[in-house]
Amino acid sequence: MVRSKENTDTNTTTDTDTFRPAAAGDARSPCPVLNSLANHNRLPHDGRNITAPQLRSALGSIGLGADLSALLVWRAFTIHNDDAEFGPHGSIGGLRDAEDVTADGVPVLHLDKVGRPHAIEHDVSVTRQDRALGDPIALDPALYEQFLASTPHRFGVPELGRYRKVRYAEQAKANPDLKFERREHYIACGELAVLRCLFGEGVFKGIPKEYLEALFGEERLPLKEGWRPRTWVKAFLPEAAAVILAISRYAWPF
Ligand code: HEM
Repeated sequence: MVRSKENTDTNTTTDTDTFRPAAAGDARSPCPVLNSLANHNRLPHDGRNITAPQLRSALGSIGLGADLSALLVWRAFTIHNDDAEFGPHGSIGGLRDAEDVTADGVPVLHLDKVGRPHAIEHDVSVTRQDRALGDPIALDPALYEQFLASTPHRFGVPELGRYRKVRYAEQAKANPDLKFERREHYIACGELAVLRCLFGEGVFKGIPKEYLEALFGEERLPLKEGWRPRTWVKAFLPEAAAVILAISRYAWPF
């Protein structure tokens, strides 16, 4: 049964535009976008037992192209290995453990493993603290406020890139154990680039501040604020790669 939009009280709702924040016990990640998708029931609301087709479909629903989605889902579903140097080829960045499967043996991802160490999570986040200094998973309210205050209205490539550089300078000073090299830099620029591609208004305007308040502050898709997933063309790898390089140009800290 498809429940009405007003119904917000159950995990079984299939209305993907219904927003319900995470409840105690729900698994969540350091990724504001994955958390928003779970809060809208585009992923299982409890954040557990997500299958690869469910994740691909949720990412497609916000305008991510099939090539990028396939790449991200492949990475996420790879079996994790803590030994970055000697683990099996391709295991760096994997988020699942071998036992993360359904009773039928179908691989599943749990959101509370998305921020595991030695995978994708990294220092110098925009809104999360470095692991050596605090909680790298949950939003840090002071960092969030500082991010929003860094630009008056819209966050385009220059604003996002320059802000990443500011964050690097701050953490380089504050964190004697900082681990942030080229790999982490490109992952971090990739996160902001895909955000820009999917939530920016058109080609030239950036992301409106209200959209970021919804996504980061409430882990909610900014539907109420007027955002709609791009329908003209989804965001494919070549576009994202160009935006990553453009953000990296502003953010380059080395
Ligand atoms: C399979 C899909 C995805 C996975 C596994 C994933 C995973 C992650 C992880 C592990 C982080 C934490 C990085 C850190 O330490 O700061 C993160 C952060 C982030 N992700 Fe995702 N993500 C996915 C999809 C997306 C998509 C589609 C977008 C954009 C539309 C996105 C935007 C972001 C942003 C902007 C951050 C940075 C948060 C911050 O620095 O405060 N992610 N993601």
